[in-house]
Amino acid sequence: MSRRQLRYQERHVDEEEDEIEVGSNKEMSAIPPVSKHTLPANDELRLFQQSFKYLFDSPSLETFIQTVKGDLFNRDYIKAFGDDDRRMAYCVRWTPSRSLAYGSLFASLAEVRTVITSENSNILVIGGGACGELVALGSIYTQHQSLKALNETPDSINIKLVDIADWTKIVGKIVSEVKKNWTYQSPDAFNVDFMNGDVLSLEPSLLGLSSVDLITTMFTTNELFAEDRAKSLRFFQSLNKECHSGCLLLITESAGSYSHIEVGKKKFPIQFLIDTILLGKDQKSGDWDLIKQSESCWYRCDKSFDYPLKLENMRFFFRLYRKK
Ligand SMILES: C[S@@+](CC[C@H](N)C(=O)[O-])C[C@H]1O[C@@H](n2cnc3c(N)ncnc32)[C@H](O)[C@@H]1O
Repeated sequence: MSRRQLRYQERHVDEEEDEIEVGSNKEMSAIPPVSKHTLPANDELRLFQQSFKYLFDSPSLETFIQTVKGDLFNRDYIKAFGDDDRRMAYCVRWTPSRSLAYGSLFASLAEVRTVITSENSNILVIGGGACGELVALGSIYTQHQSLKALNETPDSINIKLVDIADWTKIVGKIVSEVKKNWTYQSPDAFNVDFMNGDVLSLEPSLLGLSSVDLITTMFTTNELFAEDRAKSLRFFQSLNKECHSGCLLLITESAGSYSHIEVGKKKFPIQFLIDTILLGKDQKSGDWDLIKQSESCWYRCDKSFDYPLKLENMRFFFRLYRKK
């Protein structure tokens, strides 16, 4: 698609939002602010307010937010997520809009939605400690369960969040609110396991790669490559060997932000290297198929969203792969 077409699409994105065909192969340029497959957006936003009630009442909240903002601006992610005050400030300020965007994206991708709403599915969220993906998954899962007949057995879902920063406390707060407010009829069916560790160094068996149905790396791939290129390449190679047929892998980054890495004397975008590992050099003989993608997809918050802090619109790149 030419730049002009892209600009045209972005300008006309609002008119197109309702036209996205869920499950179509058309490149998605926008996802809707709300989806019938998720809980209402304000329920998600309320969950964050309930989980961190005392923080919203604290006069220090703005200071914590400004500190994290500075760290993020300097791309010092280790510092930005370095202590509980910073992590909580990140979670109340930036996670809510991300969880809404991820809910809309997961719901718009029929294959991903099917995994979330299937019995006993296993989902691995890489770099997921901040809980954006968790709340989005919980929202789709709960909405689906609520449409089932009362006498039907609830489906179980198993979500493993792995993160190099210790988000234990934050995950604990969110999970307890989800169980109290959303999955209270069958709290034991909503299983969340937070693993504090470096995904690039953990054994595949600890990550449960052989039984996982969906892996997400949302806004985390660039960071992995910045930390250790060789280990990151090995990690993506390990998915070829370890994952079962049908497993999905969803990668997102800010649109146009993919870092480049040097191989010999040439520089390649990370996305190109990941494609070569997963799809093969000819883009088709590898272990995975690329089933959905967008170079630039918008998520825009709706005016009806009610939250005391700023909610961000997002423009991102995504790629969804399926293991052959
Ligand atoms: C930019 S944040 C994105 C957070 C979340 N996925 C989202 O989209 O809102 C990147 C996350 O990846 C985590 N991370 C960075 N390197 C990691 C590694 N080697 N192993 C596991 N997690 C890592 C960070 O601690 C952070 O929580």
